[in-house]
Amino acid sequence: MRILVTGGCGFIGSNFVRYFLKTYPDGSLINVDKLTYAGNLENLSDLSGSPRYHFIRGDIADAARMEELISKDVEAIVNFAAESHVDRSIEDPSAFMKTNVFGTFVLLEAVRKVFPKRSIRFVQISTDEVYGSLGETGAFTEETPLAPNSPYSASKSAADMLVRAYYHTYGLPAVITRCSNNYGPYQFPEKLIPLMISNAIEGKELPIYGDGMHVRDWIYVEDHCQAIDVVLQRGKAGEVYNIGGRSERPNLVVAKAILDRLGKPHSMIRFVADRPGHDRRYAIDFSKIERELGWTPSVSFEEGISRTVEWYLNHQEWWKKIRTGEYLNYYKRMYENR
Ligand code: NAD
Ligand code: TYD
Repeated sequence: MRILVTGGCGFIGSNFVRYFLKTYPDGSLINVDKLTYAGNLENLSDLSGSPRYHFIRGDIADAARMEELISKDVEAIVNFAAESHVDRSIEDPSAFMKTNVFGTFVLLEAVRKVFPKRSIRFVQISTDEVYGSLGETGAFTEETPLAPNSPYSASKSAADMLVRAYYHTYGLPAVITRCSNNYGPYQFPEKLIPLMISNAIEGKELPIYGDGMHVRDWIYVEDHCQAIDVVLQRGKAGEVYNIGGRSERPNLVVAKAILDRLGKPHSMIRFVADRPGHDRRYAIDFSKIERELGWTPSVSFEEGISRTVEWYLNHQEWWKKIRTGEYLNYYKRMYENR
């Protein structure tokens, strides 16, 4: 199978690229990535000599470029490319609209130009955040109405709506996955888990928003990659598949688990001002993908967090290089005087 992956130099994309090439010895892959602040060629430097892997620097919002790429002989497109951080979307939503909404539209248009002359599948990597926030009970199903609360989740919802419309209007064989919060190797250290681990290792405070009782469902990235592969191979066109980790935890519990693994005191936690519009709880009912496609997560939170802490301890050079320049400015804006 020959596929095109967008955003393959980011966190989930790079894990997926590696997973795909390992799982399919005959598979080949083109990775198109703009290399924004979150894209890092080092995430895939081990693959640079592989004849089955081809990297192209490009923007998914560049229509001519995307048409040229998609007109090549690819059987499927997996769209990871996105601006992905809620806090940055609150600071400035414009890049989120350009990439997440307009970029997805450009890709769909490029696919429309070759389909149905050529068989081609489109997998849109979306998020459970499109469903909004839950109260104390319940879980998102694929039928839960979209109710995004941040500019990030609004842009992902808009993209999902476009994918849906292209399936219904043009019969474009597209599927959408909506996954909960990922963690694991190569995650950019602005997101909760890698930020907590790297701060703890460097002896810096761990900033927790509000009362720390906001709940996320955590999934180890390799489990997410497996689920995407199952959807890519066997997902039904026009369908949405929720993906979850069966590991709901309040943020404070996550931070304490990390400190415990590193043998550091809980007093390193600092409560800071809450995020505006902060979603209180996410929980995901992923019985559809379990029932219909036979996928279930296999890595427990305890196992996943141990592996992740270990990875960040052993790859300090990787994240210390990131935590310079633009990152330090971002960190100052975000956390100083908060
Ligand atoms: P990330 O920020 O780590 O990586 C995004 C990648 O996309 C980077 O390599 C970046 O350079 C690239 N990119 C950005 N704009 C681009 C453009 N215009 N053209 C080409 N490439 C571009 O993100 P991630 O955490 O790996 O998330 C990947 C996808 O999964 C996103 O679509 C996100 O919405 C979705 N998702 C993420 C999570 C999570 O917990 N991280 C959960 C569910 C869904
Ligand atoms: P994040 O990793 O940004 O993912 P998302 O907002 O997409 O779920 O944040 C996860 C949770 O952790 C969220 O409730 C916000 C919270 N959080 C903190 O408390 N402190 C932090 O420094 C960060 C980055 C996040």
